[in-house]
Amino acid sequence: MISTPRPATGPARPSPQLLGRSLVMVALREQLDRIARSSATVLVTGETGTGKDMVARYLHAKSPRRDQPFVALNCAALPEALIESELFGHARGAFTGAHAAYPGKIRLAAGGTLVLDEIGDMATQAQARLLRFLETGEVFSVGGLRTDVVDVRVVAATHQDLAARVQAGLFRKDVYYRLNIARVELLPLCARRGDLDELIGHFLAEVTQRHALHVQGISEPAHRALLRYAWPGNIRELKNVLESAALQADGGALHARHLPTYVTAHTAPPQPVDERALLLAALHQTKWNKSAAAAQLHWSRMTLYRKLSKYALHEPPGAN
Ligand SMILES: Nc1ncnc2c1ncn2[C@@H]1O[C@H](COP(=O)(O)OP(=O)(O)OP(=O)(O)O)[C@@H](O)[C@H]1O
Ligand SMILES: [Mg+2]
Repeated sequence: MISTPRPATGPARPSPQLLGRSLVMVALREQLDRIARSSATVLVTGETGTGKDMVARYLHAKSPRRDQPFVALNCAALPEALIESELFGHARGAFTGAHAAYPGKIRLAAGGTLVLDEIGDMATQAQARLLRFLETGEVFSVGGLRTDVVDVRVVAATHQDLAARVQAGLFRKDVYYRLNIARVELLPLCARRGDLDELIGHFLAEVTQRHALHVQGISEPAHRALLRYAWPGNIRELKNVLESAALQADGGALHARHLPTYVTAHTAPPQPVDERALLLAALHQTKWNKSAAAAQLHWSRMTLYRKLSKYALHEPPGAN
């Protein structure tokens, strides 16, 4: 079975709204729009709640595969024994409990996009079979004789540092190299505070509409607290905090007392933009092409070189 993506036929589905006006988010959307056109394997990394899932959906929605299946598999949620048959399928009677044949997620995603979520937690044995698929497109079924060649775009996501897991012997180096083709790194929310106001406005509007609430704005102290807090749970945490606060604030303004105390108790001044992280993200995204990185950041090449020396950053071997 060989399937290739068919051009979009019906009306285009709306792509997920990847909000954010910070430099980082503008550069990210540009990078994603570029990557979406190709079928290259993508590795999305970022802390919990930074939007990895959303990025995978965005890539699919913006790709020529948008009308084909979008299938996700959480590699961490499955016991080792099941992951291979979930991915590659199994024949009827291949193991106890396999009452019917199952095509597996890869075949189910044929022509479309397959998301391998929490790839860092995939068992090493399954990784070996995954490698074969990534290299050849071949899919074998557990206990079956059938081999198919399947065309899917793979988006792998993880909150883990895969390079460190390779070093620790927990993740196969060859799989890491094969996945690390188009790399998308999502910065934590505290490194892109410029996105906060837009996200707050958007989530508040969304939650008030969803629960038919009337919230008359945000008080100045509540707004300050929201901008100051470190958001370790990133965008997901922000969304949840706003939902709970809006429910309490119904009928009036959203005040600091409606926010959890750990949010309002935080008195440190706002973090300055993490320039080093911005620079590193741009360099990763452009594979250390300094002109492209400078353009992404809207800096001159001179400025870029100055910052490279300021932060003592050197191009790692094999970066491009
Ligand atoms: N740029 C964004 N604009 C608007 N909403 C966003 C953005 N990024 C993330 N979100 C929202 O934040 C929440 C968390 O995002 P998502 O589930 O994609 O994070 P994740 O990185 O996959 O987290 P985890 O590692 O825990 O799986 C979702 O509700 C998502 O819709
Ligand atoms: Mg996720």
